[in-house]
Amino acid sequence: MKVAVLGAAGGIGQALSLLLKTQLPAGTDLALFDIAPVTPGVAVDLSHIPTAVNVKGYGQDGLATALQGADIVLIPAGVPRKPGMDRSDLFNMNAGIIKNLVEACADNCPKACIAIITNPVNTTVAIAAEVLKKKGVYDKSKLFGVTTLDVIRAETFVAELKGLNPENVHVPVIGGHSGTTILPLLSQVEGIKFSDDEVKQLTHRIQNAGTEVVEAKAGGGSATLSMGQAAARFCLSLAKAMQGEAVTEYAYVEGDGADAQFFAQAVRLGTNGVVEILPYGTLSEFEAKAKADMLASLKGDIQTGIEFANQ
Ligand code: NAD
Ligand code: LMR
Repeated sequence: MKVAVLGAAGGIGQALSLLLKTQLPAGTDLALFDIAPVTPGVAVDLSHIPTAVNVKGYGQDGLATALQGADIVLIPAGVPRKPGMDRSDLFNMNAGIIKNLVEACADNCPKACIAIITNPVNTTVAIAAEVLKKKGVYDKSKLFGVTTLDVIRAETFVAELKGLNPENVHVPVIGGHSGTTILPLLSQVEGIKFSDDEVKQLTHRIQNAGTEVVEAKAGGGSATLSMGQAAARFCLSLAKAMQGEAVTEYAYVEGDGADAQFFAQAVRLGTNGVVEILPYGTLSEFEAKAKADMLASLKGDIQTGIEFANQ
């Protein structure tokens, strides 16, 4: 198996690459691409860790080689937020980066599963889909927006509030990856009851957790370490699924469009990406209203991506 990380020298890229070097199955090739001059050095650094994952670094001219033969491409390339910005403020800088990188994926590894981390995810995934369609290689079961960070945050915050081991807490998070489009389904957390106030406060915290990190880093960027962990979990699940294990993860994918063209929900993964998009079940009154209220915003984000890719 070959995994490529595009944006591998950045805050997320380095944390993610470290976790993949130590956790991918033996024999996996790990290709690290970034335009930053330090990239070959990041690969040399990681290559001294004694695991049977083969790391290679690729700079400016190495994108095609990095992608050739890739089964999974993870994309955290692009600019992160500073305090006072929304994720949508990153659109002007990151839309073109995603367009170029996904075009290169279409040309060099058209059958790869592509997982997009770069913000605004609600929009960059729509850009990627349009680019792949134009190249004639779009397969909706192989394109993902990575929303795993919302899930691990929700699990952490619920466990903290209720004094539980986060490893035993499972919280569905559906919708998108920005503000109110992030919708935790606290009514479906098994074995835990929340008061109305707890639901409001937890929902608000989960929706604003990215901003919590951006403000705490005070201009130094956004979540990188927790995102590295989240993206590694998603990639390892994809890798396991490709090797025949039944795995379920939450991700922002194209489904039947009942809510929006792209929508985060539980997906069953298999050897070729998404096998089945699982229904999210019955929502509480609070969740149903929150979903209805945010759909226009999510659809607007998606439309922005479609228009950008087709202009
Ligand atoms: P960073 O600035 O630390 O790293 C970004 C890296 O991308 C840099 O090394 C840069 O050289 C590289 N890059 C820029 N243009 C490139 C190109 N054309 N090709 C290859 N590499 C390129 O930023 P970061 O903190 O790692 O964040 C990266 C992105 O991930 C941001 O857009 C951020 O908003 C997003 N993010 C998403 C989530 C999520 O849950 N999906 C979570 C955290 C951050
Ligand atoms: C996050 O949720 O931490 C990321 O989307 C980064 C951000 O800008 O908040």
